[in-house]
Amino acid sequence: MATLALLGGEPEVKENVNIPWPMYDATEKDALVEVLESRSWNNAAKCREFEETFAAFQDAKYGIACTGGTVALEMICRAAGIGIGDEVITSAYTFIGTCTGILKAGATVVFCDIDPDTNNLDVAQVENLITDRTKAIMPVHYGGLACDLQRLLDIADQHDLAILEDAAHGWGSTYRDRGLGSWGLASGFSFQQSKNMTGGDGGIALTNDEALADAISCAVNVGRPRYGLMDASRQWGGNHRMTEFVAAVLSCQLKRIPEHTEIREQNGAMLTRTLSDIEGIEPIRRSEDATRVNWHVYGARYIAEAFEGVPRDAFVKAMRAEGVPISTGYGEPVYKHSVFQADWNAGDYTPFAWTDTQDYRTLHLPKAEQYCKERLSISQTALMASETQMRDMTRAFVKVRENADQLRGE
Ligand SMILES: Cc1ncc(COP(=O)(O)O)c(C=O)c1O
Repeated sequence: MATLALLGGEPEVKENVNIPWPMYDATEKDALVEVLESRSWNNAAKCREFEETFAAFQDAKYGIACTGGTVALEMICRAAGIGIGDEVITSAYTFIGTCTGILKAGATVVFCDIDPDTNNLDVAQVENLITDRTKAIMPVHYGGLACDLQRLLDIADQHDLAILEDAAHGWGSTYRDRGLGSWGLASGFSFQQSKNMTGGDGGIALTNDEALADAISCAVNVGRPRYGLMDASRQWGGNHRMTEFVAAVLSCQLKRIPEHTEIREQNGAMLTRTLSDIEGIEPIRRSEDATRVNWHVYGARYIAEAFEGVPRDAFVKAMRAEGVPISTGYGEPVYKHSVFQADWNAGDYTPFAWTDTQDYRTLHLPKAEQYCKERLSISQTALMASETQMRDMTRAFVKVRENADQLRGE
């Protein structure tokens, strides 16, 4: 019997497996100096180049760079004509930015429960949420794992709705061999600092529809249409432009995505193989349609009852002591966020246009709530580990499982 590192034993993973992030080398430095010396700092050639290469990389026709993922989602909602009184269905397991994008366009967020096996919205429940106000479904490809896009597209087609993909985590991931973010009417990606490719912050909207690209362009760039298709009455917008510095860095970062995705794919596969054999841990389920997954966050579920009653927090503490950088993900579904718990009817500060069709304070989505109690997360920086480090990490799971009785009372 091995002693758990938490109780004084040798840790299974000897060195820090999280690589320093963000990653950069001389290519980023040179690109930044080039922009600096060009004195063209605003939104110009580097942005156009990045928009083209990133859109093509994800198999979409048009890309419109902007300041962040939340902004990209807001802009695609606005460009798709979604506004006050409209409803957009999205996942209950996501970052608040998904909701902010919808709310800032003026629309109402309608939360769908999730499929705990995939951490994505439960497509089987979407149709029950459709009302005569519904204008779009915003699936979130959480952690880089594709949603069941074909079924969503079929539902959208039947009910005349738009699919607007939250592809904030989508860089390099595919569904049926085609890039995430290229399937719906439009999509939004994030390049915030923790992401697999980053400009510190930044975002991009993708679409295959030229008229919509024009409308997004207007919304991002003070009402200026890029393709001249937008009718004058809708030529308005804010300033959400990306700078040349950010675009230059992102073009360098994008070049690493294929190799990095391959590394995370292999490490993710090793994790899935090991975790599948551990009673009490359910690794995330990936369908054959998710042909490439960048594993921005690898997820699993911890079933305490099957783990001799050891609470999740005690398990996580033991794993961290073994040197595995594991965490528990969101503590609650996003509708528990204070924005949705405010009593807007009673005069609480109202930051958004809203309708009173939803009272989130009484909302109870059992699968999402249970999932938040069971979730285990391993982030992309750990998924970049060497094969040996990854093997050590998987051994740590086995060790903690085999010695779980030492955790009773922890
Ligand atoms: C799923 C999801 N959607 C949207 C966003 C918003 O992106 P940003 O932070 O770039 O505004 C994030 C950011 O982390 C995210 O994780």
